[in-house]
Amino acid sequence: MQRIAVLTSGGDAPGMNAAIRAVVRKAIYHGLEVLGIKRGFSGFIEADIEPLNLRSVADVVHRGGTILRTARSEKFKTFEGRKMAKENVDRFGLQGLVVIGGGGSFLGAHVFSREFGLPVVGVPGTIDNDISGTDYTIGFDTAVNTVVEAINKIRDTATSHERTFVLEVMGRDTGFIALSAGLAGGAESIIIPERPFNLEEICARLVRSYRKGSSHSIIVVAEGAASGMEIGREIKNRTGFDTKVTILGHLQRGGNPTAFDRILASMLGAKAVEWLMEGGSNIMVGYVAGQVVAVDLERVINRKKRINMALYDLAGILSI
Ligand code: F6P
Repeated sequence: MQRIAVLTSGGDAPGMNAAIRAVVRKAIYHGLEVLGIKRGFSGFIEADIEPLNLRSVADVVHRGGTILRTARSEKFKTFEGRKMAKENVDRFGLQGLVVIGGGGSFLGAHVFSREFGLPVVGVPGTIDNDISGTDYTIGFDTAVNTVVEAINKIRDTATSHERTFVLEVMGRDTGFIALSAGLAGGAESIIIPERPFNLEEICARLVRSYRKGSSHSIIVVAEGAASGMEIGREIKNRTGFDTKVTILGHLQRGGNPTAFDRILASMLGAKAVEWLMEGGSNIMVGYVAGQVVAVDLERVINRKKRINMALYDLAGILSI
């Protein structure tokens, strides 16, 4: 193996740059050439590809976003689009590909690898943490810390004005960010898609805690479970409490990665190169119980990651 490529795809996540850096430096360490594919699978189709060297990844380990840029490519979902990407595999002499992204990106990579035989290794990068076969995805820890910081700040103003706050956080189909940040931030209630919620109960809880002397409340809602605006409106209507809504949005995707995300990205990126060199393909580099593990991409794509319900119940107990 002489030449590999790396791309980032789907929603950006803090730590992706540390992963790109690890891929590039590990490959160069072993005498390989590395090409960077810009804008995910879109750049793969459009030949937006350039060589990367040690300098290309200098001064990026601490930066959020992705220096390779990213996209969600509709065209790559078609055979015609993937065939154009295959032409670029031949044109640039690519012998392996590292895909840093989430579930949708892995599906595309898996199909492509099956169709055209290019060895592919996936590195899980998404703030959502919704990838099975790994305890953590790159970017999740940073996003959770961003949300916790927001909760801390909102708590100051919530206490001062004796208000109820609904905080809507990201998580397209899952509640990983909401649960972790809600627990760490001491939220009164956490609403996630994995557990049906009862607004009547949530309001009763708010009224109880108000009667016990609590002057403010924070409710964290995962965007995939409900709209923060609607929950806020309903709470206000039912309880009469002064209720405000904050939607954190894309703020959660930016910022300097935490040390945890940088270390995770470095380990997983480097291992992806190692496995490509050893002939691995159609696998994802996961992190399970403190170990770096190989997981079949097919398994990753077909299994839904389970949220830790014990943690959810604990958050409920601790917020009485
Ligand atoms: O997949 C990561 C994520 O941030 C989700 O939490 C969110 O729903 C989605 O991406 C937003 O995507 P976009 O930036 O394309 O609006």
